[in-house]
Amino acid sequence: MCGIVGITGVEGAAGAVYKRLKLLEYRGYDSAGIASLSDGGFSLCKRRGRVYSLGGDIKHLHGKTAIGHTRWATHGKPSDENAHPHIFGKFAVVHNGIIENYAHLKDKYFSGVEFNSETDSEVAVRLLQHFYDGDILSAVKKTVKLLVGSFALVIMCSDFDGIIVAKNKNPAIIGYGVGANYCASDAPALAGLCSEITVLSDGDIAVLTSDEVTIYDGDLKRVVREKIKNPALASELDLNGCPHYMLKEIREVPQSVTKTCDAYVCTSDKLRKYLKGIERIIITGCGTAYNSGLIGKRYFESFAGIPVEVETAGEFRYKQPIITDKTAVIAISQSGETADTVEAAKLVKNLGGKVIAVTNSPYSELTRIADAVVPVEAGQEICVAATKSYTGQIAALYLLALTVAGKDVADGAKKLYSVSELTKNLIEHTDIGSLADMCARSDGVYFLGRDLDYAVATEGSLKLKEISYIPSEGYPAGELKHGTLALIDIRTTSVVIITDKSLAPKSENAVEQILSRRGKVAVITNLKDVAEELKEKALILEIPECDKYLSPILSAVIVQLLAYKTSLLLCRDPDKPRNLAKSVTVE
Ligand code: G6P
Repeated sequence: MCGIVGITGVEGAAGAVYKRLKLLEYRGYDSAGIASLSDGGFSLCKRRGRVYSLGGDIKHLHGKTAIGHTRWATHGKPSDENAHPHIFGKFAVVHNGIIENYAHLKDKYFSGVEFNSETDSEVAVRLLQHFYDGDILSAVKKTVKLLVGSFALVIMCSDFDGIIVAKNKNPAIIGYGVGANYCASDAPALAGLCSEITVLSDGDIAVLTSDEVTIYDGDLKRVVREKIKNPALASELDLNGCPHYMLKEIREVPQSVTKTCDAYVCTSDKLRKYLKGIERIIITGCGTAYNSGLIGKRYFESFAGIPVEVETAGEFRYKQPIITDKTAVIAISQSGETADTVEAAKLVKNLGGKVIAVTNSPYSELTRIADAVVPVEAGQEICVAATKSYTGQIAALYLLALTVAGKDVADGAKKLYSVSELTKNLIEHTDIGSLADMCARSDGVYFLGRDLDYAVATEGSLKLKEISYIPSEGYPAGELKHGTLALIDIRTTSVVIITDKSLAPKSENAVEQILSRRGKVAVITNLKDVAEELKEKALILEIPECDKYLSPILSAVIVQLLAYKTSLLLCRDPDKPRNLAKSVTVE
């Protein structure tokens, strides 16, 4: 959360920072700001609102060095004052993370001093100035040693034409240019600009000038960090004629499934080795990643007969989990950065357990911690609400479960390819308009299903509430009568997913119970007789038949399209829902 960018060595650096910040808005977008350095002085433009609100005003920011920030508020409401950069004395700072001991530091070092903002971040710039005696690095070292919490700090000092980056727990990368160097929170910010990047490690302090990058550890000893190819491609950031990233990314679901299959085949032997002899699996993740874990549970239990628990990472890490050498923990995270998931993985490692990361981000914190990585090849996902990464995670978990069960992975991949083809057609030909209209007019939308359909129901509900703000719940269809039924009336819509023949009659009971309370019902099904039976009573959305275990991929795109369309009908911005951010790097 929060996107940061720094550039040194580029004429009109502020303009370049502005362009790059826009590519990081998925990390937060409640306020934005840029500061530049020229002739030993700072110029600043910052305000509440999105990056574009800085617009024309940044033309007054001169110089070849600039830093910028797009914010997701943690301490202090979104406002002009709380927007970054924060400037004090000879220092300007942008910060991603939370300085947990800021109140203590403020009391200790600046008692009685009035700060300009309500942020935790301002204490960092004040400390830098406090410790500065002409030696910038020493001031940085002293400051970061005092900070408890998580931070990626990008710092300018008016005595130095360059940038300093300090990192602990929050991501920071360095990008290499010709006569210029760059830093950012995330690779997409440097896509098309830097072909090589370095991912900084915790404790690193990097000094960037226009022609040199030097990296130190926290004690200012020089360290060498690997340069890697920038995984983010400029072409992936293009909307390809789509009005929103969300639609573009739903359209990329089929290829996220097939590419994940292709990548999996190359790693399956290694994974088999890691998972040999495993007797218990714990799956953990947050949000959509947690929801894909619910599907994964079913795969491991059905194919391999291994018991699986699924826990949200924020709960798991505070539960004193019992980990033995026969337990594998699968940590799922699109970004590989989510603080709770990363900390859960660290906890498992500290307890001597094995961590398998299922992630779309090959160079993330999570992959560094994990013993083995199952790649999700969804490509860059920009929309805050996850879509193609969810289906990529399902494909990866399906293949992993087949591996653990000693089953034919090639056959599984074949089934995934054919589902991917069906998905293409479904996305092209589904008319979601009427159901979206029903939802947009409803006070509440309930997603119901049994078994795997229930798992998709949880994701359908999450998608809808994330981007339309309509109150919604994903519920096991059997539980309807134990609570949710009290909410049903003429102003509600229930979306019932029915793809398992053996469970269909039970889910149809739920439909009848809702109709009896005058609730509106839509049914997503691949069963012809269910569609036929209910067509007079409910709005029917048919999906093609496929392998029972893979139908979640097909129903997933329907609930994703539904959320997208409903969000548009309510004039929301599906790519940037209120209050949310894509990578939640704070706890
Ligand atoms: C945030 C995003 C969700 C995402 C969750 C987990 O809450 O808004 O869309 O599912 O984080 O993210 P991860 O990167 O760990 O999968």
